[in-house]
Formats: sequence, structure tokens, C-alpha cells
Amino acid sequence: MELISDYMRDEEKRHMLNALTQKTFGFDFEGWVTNGFYEGDYIPYSLVENEVCISNVSANKMRFRQNGVIKNYIQLGTVMTDESYRRQGLAAKLMKHVIREYEGKCDGIYLFGDLSAVGFYGKMGFDITNQYMYFVKDEFCSSVKSGEPFMPVSEMGEDIKQKYKELLRMSCPHSAFEQMNKFGLQMFYTSGMDSVYYSSDLDCYIVKEEDGDTVLSSVLCKKKAGLAEVLKRIDVENRLRLGFVPLDEDRELCDCSIYDGADDYRLFCRGTELEAIERDKLYFPDLSHA
Ligand SMILES: CC(C)(COP(=O)(O)OP(=O)(O)OC[C@H]1O[C@@H](n2cnc3c(N)ncnc32)[C@H](O)[C@@H]1OP(=O)(O)O)[C@@H](O)C(=O)NCCC(=O)NCCS
Repeated sequence: MELISDYMRDEEKRHMLNALTQKTFGFDFEGWVTNGFYEGDYIPYSLVENEVCISNVSANKMRFRQNGVIKNYIQLGTVMTDESYRRQGLAAKLMKHVIREYEGKCDGIYLFGDLSAVGFYGKMGFDITNQYMYFVKDEFCSSVKSGEPFMPVSEMGEDIKQKYKELLRMSCPHSAFEQMNKFGLQMFYTSGMDSVYYSSDLDCYIVKEEDGDTVLSSVLCKKKAGLAEVLKRIDVENRLRLGFVPLDEDRELCDCSIYDGADDYRLFCRGTELEAIERDKLYFPDLSHA
């Protein structure tokens, strides 16, 4: 059995990872890499036997501006062991290897764990942490509409789509806890442009989805677009949840409540730096989940 790592541009090895990811989670990385969205921040660590990937833990390099200070975290993801090799210590071996590789060299290690794997991550020395979720107060959702409404980018020309990709690297921050290197992960979620909208007078893009609530997961604009200006250009039928922490100056437009991941996940952290997430009422952006 061999441990291989950091091979995403090696087709043969990547196809082995794709096979296990398909089998375990029902997706793969092929389009993401071949379309040019992978930029080296995703580093798989895999155990390979007879040219088959049997277990994997991936490290995602995450660079955040957290209340004005740059933090470099590692987010672990794609944690999986082939069904016929489970409970033999393989994922634990990879987790320990990856933790040794990064601990002390970054500001903290975290991951979003499925509820079925809570016991596993507990054994790996992670602590469960809460986040805070932000909702726009009703009175601001129903404020008078004005300006050019946000329209679907999927129905627009290539130039508008291209500008969205460029803004992922150049947008000014719209969150007190903003991922700086968001291109790769945000394109993983939005390359189809189904949830991307553009307002021409603001020259601003948003990512917006419906999941019972309306979820505003990203605001991208070269000049800062205040949340109130964005709200004037969207219709909200139910509650409006932010998939990120608002800027300090926009916080009065929002209520926030403690969030433990509910039925979806638990946030697991290692390192005292990450105690700031609960203490400072932060929330990892929805589009930054690996
Ligand atoms: C979770 C998963 C990665 C564990 O892989 P694995 O190789 O079987 O784990 P290991 O054998 O290294 O287990 C290490 C320890 O955790 C325990 N453990 C493993 N899976 C567990 C689980 N789901 N719940 C509780 N404990 C678990 C093992 O018993 C072992 O304990 P021990 O040290 O006391 O003997 C694997 O079950 C899997 O691929 N699940 C499906 C995908 C998934 O849910 N991934 C996590 C997404 S967040």
C-alpha cells in the first residue's frame, strides 16, 4: 500500500481518486480540473493498492480575511475509505499524517463532518464548534425596490460570465469573514451559473438560491456594494439568509442565531485560534465548504 499526495494534475492518479469519490459521494473532480478551476489549493492524500485508491483525506488551503486579519486555515475534506477497507485504521492513518503535515504551520485545521462520522472525528482529536447564522430582518427584505434588478447570468452573454470569474479574484470584500482564495471552490459550486445573478447599475454579481429560505451566498463587486443596495434589487418571498457573515456596517440589518449544523453537519476544529469562530459569531461561507 502506497501513500501518494498532491497529484491532481496527474490524470492517472486523479482518475483513481475520481473512482472512489464517485462511489462514495456521487461526484468527481474531472470537470473541475479540466475546465481550469483547480488552482493547487486542493491537496489529496491517498492510500493506493493495486492501482486503486482505497482511502483519502484532502487538505484545502483556505485563506481568510477575518475581521481585518489574514488567517491561513486548512479545511479537510473528501474523507473516505472504500467500503471493503473500512474499520482497518486507514482513514485514521491519513488523518494523522495530514495533521502532522500542517499543524503548527497554519492557523488551525477544521472540517465539516457528516453526522454519521461524528464518532470518527471525535477520535481524531477534533472539537465540535458552533457558528452563527445571519438572517436579514424582515423590514429590510421588504424595503422599497429600486435600481436594476438582479437578472440570471445563465441567460446572458459570455462576456458577463467571464467577468464573474474575474471578479472572484478581484472583488472587494463583502463579508467580515471573507475567503480570499475563493476562485476554485466557488467555481466548483457555480460554474453552471444557475444561481448567479447580475445587476447592471450596481455592476455587481450575487449568488442566490432557494432552500425554503432565500439564501444569498455571495456578493461580488469591484467597489463595495452595501447590503441595503443589494436588497433593493432582489425579491424575497420568505426569509433571507446570508451564506456568510455581513460586514460590520451591515450587521444592524441582520439578526443572528447560534448554529450547530442542524441535520447537515458538525463543524470540527483543532487549535485555539478557531475558538474565534463561536466567540466572534462567525460563519464559514457556504461556498467555501470543501
Ligand atoms: C468515516 C470513514 C472515512 C472512516 O474510515 P475508516 O478507514 O473506516 O476509519 P478508521 O478505520 O481509520 O477508524 C478510526 C477509528 O474511528 C472509528 N470509526 C470509524 N468510522 C466511524 C464512524 N462512522 N463512527 C464512529 N467511529 C468510527 C473506528 O472504529 C476507529 O476506532 P478505534 O481507533 O477505536 O479502533 C468511512 O467510514 C467512510 O468513508 N464513510 C463514508 C464517507 C463519509 O461519510 N466520510 C466522512 C464525510 S465528512
